[in-house]
Amino acid sequence: MNLELELDQLSGTAAEKIDAAADARALEQLRVELLGKKGSVTELLKQLGGMAPDQRKAFGEKVNRVKQDLSDRLERKSTTLSEAELARKLASQTIDVTLPGRGEAPGALHPVTRTIRRIESIFNSMGFESVQGPEIEDDWHNFQALNIPESHPARAMQDTFYVLDGSRLLRTHTSPVQIRTMKRRQPPIRIICPGRVYRVDFDRTHSPMFHQVEGLYVAENVGLADLKHDLQQFLSLFFERPVEALFRPSYFPFVEPGADVHMRWALPGQEPRWLELLGCGVVHPNVLDAVGIDPERYTGYAFGMGVERLAMLRYGVDDLRLFFNNDLRFLEQFR
Ligand code: PHE
Repeated sequence: MNLELELDQLSGTAAEKIDAAADARALEQLRVELLGKKGSVTELLKQLGGMAPDQRKAFGEKVNRVKQDLSDRLERKSTTLSEAELARKLASQTIDVTLPGRGEAPGALHPVTRTIRRIESIFNSMGFESVQGPEIEDDWHNFQALNIPESHPARAMQDTFYVLDGSRLLRTHTSPVQIRTMKRRQPPIRIICPGRVYRVDFDRTHSPMFHQVEGLYVAENVGLADLKHDLQQFLSLFFERPVEALFRPSYFPFVEPGADVHMRWALPGQEPRWLELLGCGVVHPNVLDAVGIDPERYTGYAFGMGVERLAMLRYGVDDLRLFFNNDLRFLEQFR
């Protein structure tokens, strides 16, 4: 009968078309044409309703078999097509895994880190050992042991960040590391203490967090002459030229006598002037007493310098905040 014939023809040509489909789009179009809502196989199925029951059964089975067969073919063809597509991609897109990555940007040390390392290596070569300590301190190590008692006006010199209940604080200098070291060992002690320190301060030349390197030399017969000589030598090595340094009397509770060191500095096109660089002095006997070192037998000197200040001078930077903005245009200049 002619419906059967139609079905046979349909199944034959459909199979050929499926085999010939060039890509996934053509295949999808075929699927719609054959099995979609208005597809030719679907149309044939719709005819079943008008048939006599025994015919309907035989023809129905046949249509469904054709339908199943075509759908299997579509599926197989689809797999073949995507495998071919993958093979084509793999053949055309070869990757050379030995090539260097793209957009590689070599890193560099931060100018503050570079300056700390430079200061350390100079002092290490002069016999000073680098020592670290905690950034959260207690009142005794940061103040009292350094001859700064509770009500001492010198506490106002350093605006302190207190932690939680006020029994702990962020160290305002790295001097507490010297206290910790002296409590642990007996002289001779020759150390530098690099690290972060904190004070309530913020402008072009102050930052609430900055870096210090403090130094301490305690032994028999260490005095002001050693201090002057050693700092003079450090400054010349650091700035790579003979440095004219001036020691001006100054006050720090933990030293006696105390001094500020100034150095002759000429900015381009300006008259040279004296620039304050660091604080220093001969360790106060009260400090040695506090850590159990005999001040009758031992003496020592101490100094403290701001790392950012030295970095600003060495690199000609006029705003300290530049060190902490993390602007790559600034940082990349220190490669
Ligand atoms: N601790 C002092 C400060 O932070 C620096 C200093 C150290 C001064 C040693 C004199 C002697 O300001």
